[in-house]
Amino acid sequence: MRLMTAMSMVLLTLPGWAGAAAAPPAPPPLSAAPPAFTAAQVEAGRTLYSRQCAACHGAAQEGGEAGPARRGTAFLAKWGPKPWQELYEQTRRTMPVTQPAGLARSQYGRPRR
Ligand code: HEC
Repeated sequence: MRLMTAMSMVLLTLPGWAGAAAAPPAPPPLSAAPPAFTAAQVEAGRTLYSRQCAACHGAAQEGGEAGPARRGTAFLAKWGPKPWQELYEQTRRTMPVTQPAGLARSQYGRPRR
């Protein structure tokens, strides 16, 4: 099973995605489910989120004055139909707002190649 390198709450915490099937050996088609994560990676992502993202997006991703919710009906309506790679790429390029693309690639959870 191929694993993500580590630490992304971006994908880890979306309901239904964290336990998705492992990625196929070749780069997956855009509609494929994201790769699975280990429990340790999920935990690392949780820590990263609370340090780097929660101030704006809320401790439980519920959103706040400084950032939109990262869960719920509107979020899923917007991102649910799209390939997970789009959400990953946009987040990597633009977040955290105060430091766009400022985290290590591994922290955004880039799949190992
Ligand atoms: C300083 C405040 C701030 C921080 C810190 C921050 N964000 Fe954001 N985030 C925003 C704002 C404002 C938007 C909406 C505007 C935009 O998309 O650029 C946003 C949008 C997003 C979106 C798109 C939401 C949607 O509905 O389309 C995602 C996903 C996201 N952020 C993830 C993250 C992650 C992951 C982190 C931590 C690594 C993070 N953000 C840190 C303020 C922040």
